[in-house]
Amino acid sequence: MKPKILITRKIADEVVSKISEVCEVDMWPDEERPIPREILEKKVEDIEGIFCLITETIDEKLLNNAPKLKVISNMAVGHNNIDINVAKERGITVTNTPGVLTETTADLTFALLMATSRRIIEASNFIRNGNWKAWAPMQLTGQDVFGTTIGIIGMGRIGEAVARRAKGFDMKVLYYNRNRKHDIEEMLGVHYTDMDTLLQQSDFVVIMAPYTPETNNLISHRELSLMKNSAILINTARGGIVDEDALYQALKNNGIWAAGLDVFATEPVPFDHPLLTLPNVVTLPHIGSASIRTRIKMAHLAADNLINGVTGKIPAHVVV
Ligand code: DGY
Repeated sequence: MKPKILITRKIADEVVSKISEVCEVDMWPDEERPIPREILEKKVEDIEGIFCLITETIDEKLLNNAPKLKVISNMAVGHNNIDINVAKERGITVTNTPGVLTETTADLTFALLMATSRRIIEASNFIRNGNWKAWAPMQLTGQDVFGTTIGIIGMGRIGEAVARRAKGFDMKVLYYNRNRKHDIEEMLGVHYTDMDTLLQQSDFVVIMAPYTPETNNLISHRELSLMKNSAILINTARGGIVDEDALYQALKNNGIWAAGLDVFATEPVPFDHPLLTLPNVVTLPHIGSASIRTRIKMAHLAADNLINGVTGKIPAHVVV
């Protein structure tokens, strides 16, 4: 008998076919919206594997309902939506999809950095709103990228990929990480600093750290006050790493110059969120890894992890 698994969102047919060769598949049919929690709680009762997204909270309560569960395959590199400790206690394997999204997420991070520094969204809206009457010397002037200093908080795979891009812009790269990365320093000529120095010296502060209890509100009033008035904060990691109230104050009071945000503490970010009222914020709906090719690769990798997990093999990317 094939093991029963649940896929919590409609995903590409080719990926479903692959999983169906090995598993009995129950797939939530909506592509855009998450499976409602009460349905999810019911559906996990007799499954051995779950293919889930960052929109599903896999907590103790849900795991209590899933006595047969062997593997949780998250189609994401981040896994803060899953209670790793409870999963581990129960011997449930948790997997993620690192690697395949590195370059795509670094591209988007740089796109956000360029868009905020050169006011791309504002400038585009300036024309569309009929405001372009004449070329003017200081019209829509922004901040330079080339030759400036970037500070990367979290030098994992994506941080390194952002550093490589920054080098192409002749930027000085500072980084802060729990562990110093001598190999990357040697390879890319990046400089390790403490957090405060990074915040004080960088023209761009880019958050690439995982979201954990330790990084919750890592960037708050004090940290923002250390940044230059001309500095730009970019977050493509997780919203909870930045204290959004503190960020709003800093942006409104010219404490920092701009912010580019792909992620929010609550997603979808409420339409009336104060940050959305500021012209110096570029906001995106968590699309860091959203290229067609990468999202398909992520789905395949999550499928392979799931299949291996339910068939007793060791998946390629085990978190716990
Ligand atoms: C991840 O992989 O963690 C992203 O946030 C979603 O692609």
